[in-house]
Amino acid sequence: MGNRILINADISKAQINKHIYGHFAEHLGRCIYEGIWVGKESSIPNTKGIRNDVLEALRAIRVPVLRWPGGCFADEYHWKDGIGPYEQRKRMVNTHWGGVIENNHFGTHEFMLLCELLECEPYICGNVGSGTVQEMSEWVEYMTFDGESPMASWRGENGRETPWRLKYFGVGNENWGCGGHMRPEYYADLYRRYQTYVRNYGDNRIFKIAGGANVDDYNWTEVLMKHAGGLMDGLSLHYYTIPGDFWLGKGSALDFDTDEWFITMKRALHMDELISRHGAIMDKYDPDKRVGLIIDEWGTWFDVEPGTNPGFLYQQNSIRDALVAALHFNIFHKHADRVYMANIAQTVNVLQAMILTEGDKMLLTPTYHIFDMFKVHQDAELLSVESSLGVCGHQGQELPQVMVSASKDHAGRVHLSLVNIDPGQEAEIYVEVRGLDAEELRPVGRILTARHMNDHNTFEQPSTVAPAPFEQVVADKTGLKLRLPAMSAVTLCLN
Ligand code: AHR
Repeated sequence: MGNRILINADISKAQINKHIYGHFAEHLGRCIYEGIWVGKESSIPNTKGIRNDVLEALRAIRVPVLRWPGGCFADEYHWKDGIGPYEQRKRMVNTHWGGVIENNHFGTHEFMLLCELLECEPYICGNVGSGTVQEMSEWVEYMTFDGESPMASWRGENGRETPWRLKYFGVGNENWGCGGHMRPEYYADLYRRYQTYVRNYGDNRIFKIAGGANVDDYNWTEVLMKHAGGLMDGLSLHYYTIPGDFWLGKGSALDFDTDEWFITMKRALHMDELISRHGAIMDKYDPDKRVGLIIDEWGTWFDVEPGTNPGFLYQQNSIRDALVAALHFNIFHKHADRVYMANIAQTVNVLQAMILTEGDKMLLTPTYHIFDMFKVHQDAELLSVESSLGVCGHQGQELPQVMVSASKDHAGRVHLSLVNIDPGQEAEIYVEVRGLDAEELRPVGRILTARHMNDHNTFEQPSTVAPAPFEQVVADKTGLKLRLPAMSAVTLCLN
């Protein structure tokens, strides 16, 4: 009977929060320095120190929210080191990431400028692991207090009279690990204490995010929700797609076989179960879903590229990464009633990056193109979809071959996204659309695919994996018939 999809264009399930398309940039390797910040004196064209090519590329994918300064770096970061004249800023050792000197040239003012230039929401992660309550409290005062106060006056002396608007604030990062190796009971109490002093000044309202679980540590979520659920707006979750073993060898970004391809897809799909199970615990304490699940670190994590600093987490990015990203978006959409935000790790030059740079050169990765194609779903209404789709597999593993999601935007345009994870088989699909007249069906879209499983972009050949118009679709009065090539993602506007 083939692959069939029924889209109910008149049945909306939830709104897909645009923050699901969020990003994460840490002081790690060449993400901030080189990747984003080159300094005002650089020969690389820049706006007040921020490189223009990267700015332009990120603007094009409509980055809605950016998390900073870490990651593990956040719990070693002391914000006062990163303000004032550059020559007076403290030089420190980035002990967690490569032991390199951090000159603190990219600090609060520079990050807020970056967010202004990108027109995105800043999401700042505070230091619980090695910072004080006072330090965290004063950072929020420095950024958001309007009027006379010690921190607001200091901000003015540093060139910024008007406060910034800051909505998202994280109270620590991975407090079960690099953020302090705490037990959930201890962190829940610390969270209660620290968040008390994360104040709302004037009409600035802070959405407080508690440090959440590592992968399937359901007990962490249970304890946090039980003891601190009423004092948070969001609870985070971190899960990386690693085909190998975290300590013994994660696997190569480019040198992998079909077996590893399927393991990667299977592990990416695990996100679905993690959200369901953490979500079920949250439902117990928060049935109205007031607290958002904030998946503020996700993406592929492979071995670093040969010859690069192991502490810099620099990896290439292939069509496999692109499809992992597309699967995640479909999963996040499915759980749009609980998933409020997600932040891919990380924006430039680190892990599953959107952008790679080398000196003044820049390339867009296959993952970037998925963010570009899928941005049509930002803030759209998730539509009800019924489907009967085949499976694919390798060496006894059976996975769904095609994943699908559909949404309707503010202008009434219906968008359909499809992912075929099978690296060897195309999929023929019949799509029926209820709630749209057959004459309205004028499908136009783009496809991202490749010839080989490890196809990727290089500085010499930056467009090996790039979107192209999708032509293998025909519409008639019964709906659409389309052919989805092996290892491809497609986004179509139906009307
Ligand atoms: O994204 C890299 C690191 O992964 C982050 O710093 C940390 O939070 C996580 O373990």
